Amino acid sequence: MNHVFNRPYRTVKNGLKKISIRHNAIKPTNFFNFAHWQFVINPINLTIREMYRNDLFKDKVALVTGGRSGIGYAIARQLLQLGASVVICSRKEEPLMVAAQELSQFGTCIAMPCDIRKTDQIKALAQFIKEQHGRLDILVNNAGGQFPAMAEYISDNGWNAVINNNLNGTFFMIREMANTFLIPQKQGIIVNIIADIFRGFPGMIHTGAARAGVENLTKTIALEWSEHNIRINSIAPGIIESSGLDQYPPQIQEMFEEAKQASPMGRFGTSEEVSNAVCFLASPLSSFTSGITLYVDGAKHLNFDKMGMIKAMKSIMGNNG
Ligand SMILES: NC(=O)c1ccc[n+]([C@@H]2O[C@H](COP(=O)([O-])OP(=O)(O)OC[C@H]3O[C@@H](n4cnc5c(N)ncnc54)[C@H](OP(=O)(O)O)[C@@H]3O)[C@@H](O)[C@H]2O)c1
Repeated sequence: MNHVFNRPYRTVKNGLKKISIRHNAIKPTNFFNFAHWQFVINPINLTIREMYRNDLFKDKVALVTGGRSGIGYAIARQLLQLGASVVICSRKEEPLMVAAQELSQFGTCIAMPCDIRKTDQIKALAQFIKEQHGRLDILVNNAGGQFPAMAEYISDNGWNAVINNNLNGTFFMIREMANTFLIPQKQGIIVNIIADIFRGFPGMIHTGAARAGVENLTKTIALEWSEHNIRINSIAPGIIESSGLDQYPPQIQEMFEEAKQASPMGRFGTSEEVSNAVCFLASPLSSFTSGITLYVDGAKHLNFDKMGMIKAMKSIMGNNG
């Protein structure tokens, strides 16, 4: 019987560059024969600039909503690192301007306050982008927010607030930017950040419903605007270690370690793992991909141990871990 060594990541020196590797499926008899080792570059340590050309988004203008913090900040930074000019927007002017200044070290980044729920503010933002850049190529709808509550306790106001932000705001932004730029340009890319809604969203029914709405409008727009050469896709992040998690009450934050252990990969994701996927969907490498939802969640949305089978078989057959 072949033994399988599933070793944790191991760091080696490779010339000038330090990379992490992992090796799987090594027979003991072949252990010292490197030809039999399967090296896999650890994706967590691979940076966007090692993967893509530095000028991938040269001459492209991108708008990242909610780009002042967390996942949106990482998306803005990577787009800048790959040559895009980036506009970020959010409601809070001061931290927004600080973020734009910080991000400017990576490329041309400007900012304007805008509440995605208010179409007059979105129109003003579109005008600002027109004056500054004359065009918009990539729209990343990342802005959003929600609060945990069981369904029976959610008030009309609470429900409307989350639907208005996460569904209506996203739609208003798409419609206005498409009418001002993408449709007349006959070209554009839209990426929506939603959430893991695969099995509903227990504990946050409002955001589950709103994100399902965005997932569905992604499909509709993919079909309606394909004739305008517009692609639109969604990304469904799992739990991501970002500023967004700080908003949750301590009782929920205390459960994070347990939640990590219960995840197939035993960890939460990083903002960069989400923005890596955004850069792929915003690039010509995904030129035939539209209307999909890409899960960036370490397989968590599939995590369902039917009949406790996985656990039982591991105890019977061993874990190989
Ligand atoms: N972290 C996760 O585990 C996770 C998982 C799945 C999905 N998501 C989603 O991914 C997105 C980014 O999350 P994050 O973790 O980076 O959280 P975050 O730091 O709280 O980012 C949310 C951003 O959206 C902006 N925003 C919220 N409402 C807005 C509005 N009405 N108009 C304009 N900007 C608005 C906020 O800025 P202002 O306060 O200045 O407006 C903030 O910059 C959110 O939509 C979040 O729900 C996060």
